[in-house]
Amino acid sequence: MLARLARLLAGSTLILGLGCGGPQQVPPECPPTATERVEKKGAKTPGSATVADAEAFLKQVEPELLELWVARERASWVKSTFITHDTELIAAKADEAVMEAVARRAAEATRFDGLKLPAELRRKLDLLKVSLSLPAPRDPKKRAELARIANGMESVYGRGKVCTKYSEKCLTLDEVSEILAKSRNEPELLAVWEGWHKIAVPMRGDYARYVELANEGARGLGFKNLGEIWKGRYDMSGDAFEAEVDRLWEQVRPLYQDLHCFARSRLQAKYGKKKVKDGAPIPAHLLGNMWAQEWSNLMDLFAPGKDAAAVNFEGALKEKGVDPVGMVKYGEGFFTSLGLTKLPKSFWERSMFKRPMDREVVCHASAWDIDFEADLRIKMCIKVNEEDFTTIHHELGHNYYQYYYRHQPALFRDSANDGFHEALGDVIALSVTPSYLTKVGLLKKEGAPGLTPLMNRALEKVAFLPFGLVVDKWRWDVFAGKTRPSDYNRAWWELRRKYQGVAPQKARGEELFDPGAKYHVPANVPYTRYFLAAILQFQFHRAFCKLTGHKGPLHTCSIYQNKEVGKRIQAMMELGQSRPWSEALKAATGEEKMDASAILAYFEPLHTWLRKENRGKTCGW
Ligand code: ASP
Ligand code: SER
Ligand code: ZN
Repeated sequence: MLARLARLLAGSTLILGLGCGGPQQVPPECPPTATERVEKKGAKTPGSATVADAEAFLKQVEPELLELWVARERASWVKSTFITHDTELIAAKADEAVMEAVARRAAEATRFDGLKLPAELRRKLDLLKVSLSLPAPRDPKKRAELARIANGMESVYGRGKVCTKYSEKCLTLDEVSEILAKSRNEPELLAVWEGWHKIAVPMRGDYARYVELANEGARGLGFKNLGEIWKGRYDMSGDAFEAEVDRLWEQVRPLYQDLHCFARSRLQAKYGKKKVKDGAPIPAHLLGNMWAQEWSNLMDLFAPGKDAAAVNFEGALKEKGVDPVGMVKYGEGFFTSLGLTKLPKSFWERSMFKRPMDREVVCHASAWDIDFEADLRIKMCIKVNEEDFTTIHHELGHNYYQYYYRHQPALFRDSANDGFHEALGDVIALSVTPSYLTKVGLLKKEGAPGLTPLMNRALEKVAFLPFGLVVDKWRWDVFAGKTRPSDYNRAWWELRRKYQGVAPQKARGEELFDPGAKYHVPANVPYTRYFLAAILQFQFHRAFCKLTGHKGPLHTCSIYQNKEVGKRIQAMMELGQSRPWSEALKAATGEEKMDASAILAYFEPLHTWLRKENRGKTCGW
């Protein structure tokens, strides 16, 4: 799922020797050929490993992995679209097989550690070692236990229901999300918020065990803990990566704080200063979203003028009778307008677009690449609204990326870094502007004047930034043992208060497990990718808009129908993961570093307005 972005791969033991061209129990001594002797100059590790061995090794490993990945994707698809005891166990088995193979192969690959190799081979070997999102211990029993826990936690999340006095039946996450988006009845908001957080309580013990087992797996691969593997995928050291992320956050922090200050005062006007206190964090259940990660559902409260409705096209979607498939067609239409391919027939036949009524499924939106060729699918419980319209573009971005890197060798069939995968579809969605919506008949007139569309975007993108950091800052500390199970909830809320400036209405004790109420925690999907994507997509947008010759503010630019931009995007996608991400970034934008100046430039007109609005207020928390 998420293109094997959430790969469950894990570790095991046996270090097999690879002899002169094939796997063997005992490596024989093979005399190097003349060319190999040249290549081997400077090699630190003695022994029989040669460049040709490494090449032969990868020739075996890549098809072997591919076959196991495909089997895992199929099992995982069936489980996620039909959660039962059996499908969960079948999926866990398929995960185990990948975990075992990757760890075995990664261990074997250490044989080439000191060998001077052509860049492509070295990169593949490096990628193999960090490709494990969930490494397992050497012991097969522990490996099975970890695979079962991981699959089980995701299912608990998928099955989660909220029962409150406000509705007769218990509600799904999609249903309570709609209440959080639309209701302004504070006690009801609190009830559904608390109700959803209860679903995570049974995961608490499992999560602690999963951390132990996954860390044991990571250590088996030579990493200090699981967090070090996740941080080790960015062509730099884990410490350097953390520093990068902090640097980017410092760039955008003033913008977030000004948005927070403004939002708090509007919420005070709505709910009163007793509920929303001066100088204090905002209550987490009042921001229109379960995790307070995106605030766009509060446009009615936050629009700069009285024209909030002018950017809302949910009404138009409903009036036109657009159904979930119709929504996806709009998405595809944008990609094809750039000169990119149509989605394959099988995509329309095999995707899951709606919540089925007769079975439990994992509704959290995701994009799949079942056979690593063209069996592309999305899995989503689409509601006809703006938020899902945007998410569809996000998911299709994954599918297009997957489609265009399919010619790469297996180990390169991924994005430049995971932030790129998340950013691709978002770049398209940034071009879903009032003028685009007018063109495709979803807004009557481009009328939405002034800052309203930009505020709408800020509530989605700027509000998200700190949450994009918090999830993994929490997990990095948990994996490193800095946060113990007895402190899970305290540490979670400390980070949410520090970065997001939100807090729960009432104290949350350690009998609860609030991080587990966010999909990516039970599902073991790293999260910093979304923070990176939030920064990167504006760099792409700025560069692509320059290519279109756009004049005027960045937020009014749409790349719709621009074939030049389409070619630029296609070239980047085709590279897959074959080159360091800075090269892919350079090819697409001319820039080599991740840099928040683009997002700041995009929101500058709004930021100027916010500063004025906030004058005389005490900001911060
Ligand atoms: N849209 C979802 C999210 O980003 C899933 C995904 O990454 O595709 O969590
Ligand atoms: N899709 C991600 C999430 O749902 C980031 O927006 O959290
Ligand atoms: Zn995604």
